[in-house]
Amino acid sequence: MWVNKALFELCKLSDSLEGEDTFHQRRVCFIAYNIAKELKFDEQGLNLVVKSALLHDIGLLTDESKVETFRNIIYEDFELLNKHAIVSGKIARFFNMHLDVGLAITLHHTPHENNTSVIGNILFLADNVEIAYRSLTNPYAYDDLIDFLEQKRELFNPEMFDVLKNIAKKECFWFSLLENHVDDAVLEIVDQLPKEDMNDKLKTAIVYLISYMTDNIAPFYDKYSLYVKNISVNLGYKLGLDTRVLHNAALLSHVGNLKIPYDTFKMPSLDEETYNIVKSHTFEGYHILKRLGFDREAELVLLHHENNTREGYPCRIKPEREAAVLGLATIVAAIMQDRPYRGARSDEKIKEGLGNFRDIELFDKEILDAAIDIDLEKVRKTEDEYYTAVRKLFA
Ligand SMILES: [Fe+2]
Ligand SMILES: [Fe+2]
Ligand SMILES: [Fe+2]
Repeated sequence: MWVNKALFELCKLSDSLEGEDTFHQRRVCFIAYNIAKELKFDEQGLNLVVKSALLHDIGLLTDESKVETFRNIIYEDFELLNKHAIVSGKIARFFNMHLDVGLAITLHHTPHENNTSVIGNILFLADNVEIAYRSLTNPYAYDDLIDFLEQKRELFNPEMFDVLKNIAKKECFWFSLLENHVDDAVLEIVDQLPKEDMNDKLKTAIVYLISYMTDNIAPFYDKYSLYVKNISVNLGYKLGLDTRVLHNAALLSHVGNLKIPYDTFKMPSLDEETYNIVKSHTFEGYHILKRLGFDREAELVLLHHENNTREGYPCRIKPEREAAVLGLATIVAAIMQDRPYRGARSDEKIKEGLGNFRDIELFDKEILDAAIDIDLEKVRKTEDEYYTAVRKLFA
């Protein structure tokens, strides 16, 4: 997997939370790239523009209220706009991106007059174009859009605005922004840029960012993926399994939840149809992780609700050992926490419940015995510097 492709997938994920796609960051990427290209940016410059655009709103998308704000963006709320711009900039630095990327993102809501970043100015303009584009009732009425932006042209870098007006004469520019074309258009751009290999540092940063996002869906999920990770790794060591894969698969285990309406998780009970939607988190997670290049983790995540009696979901097959360990870890971690339909169980009760599992063939006895042996207080207390570091980005 190469860096820009992974960032594109991450961007797509953060553009389409709760099953509703805004296409915002991908469109901003396409617009920003075209402005930069027209301004004769070299390959390195274009690469930085694309990275900045793909990540520019990532910090907005981690809690429910912010998601709502994003959908109905209120452009006068500068405090909120600047807050998420700062968080997104911090995430870019956490991802070890070039300093210019972090700066551009931090300034993506700062008008020309006070914007000290060239790429930041491009993002500011592209962002305004996209928001105006999304408010058009007819996506082909782009002349109206330019007229509308003309009224606030003093906010934009004059040279960049003129460039935009030139680009805006081309129908193919606007056709590329349509929902059924924009992903292909951005992928074509990404394909032309240098294909930098993903290093382990970036992979780890993405894993922890996603784990933070999934743990933020509802207050009772706080630290859920961290507990799943602590339990999975503990079991992995005891059973001689691949703890590295288990570590990441655990933190990524519920990425599929990001595709499901968050209210679903707050319901005290679910009807059959809603339960089927919840079950899809396994399948959604599998595909997101495959696209992000986490192939092995994707396989485990797909099967984490399967069991030996083939009565689990979504494939109804007997899971391999790593998937079974991940599955049991997700159950134990869930019971350690409150849920809308029940309270957290005491450690004693959890162990008792695991013991009862020994009589019904759901899990291998060896895995159950290893789980019964875990010190759950230690699971709660074990710190993780990356998890803490990600939290601090949003503080
Ligand atoms: Fe923004
Ligand atoms: Fe934006
Ligand atoms: Fe699950």
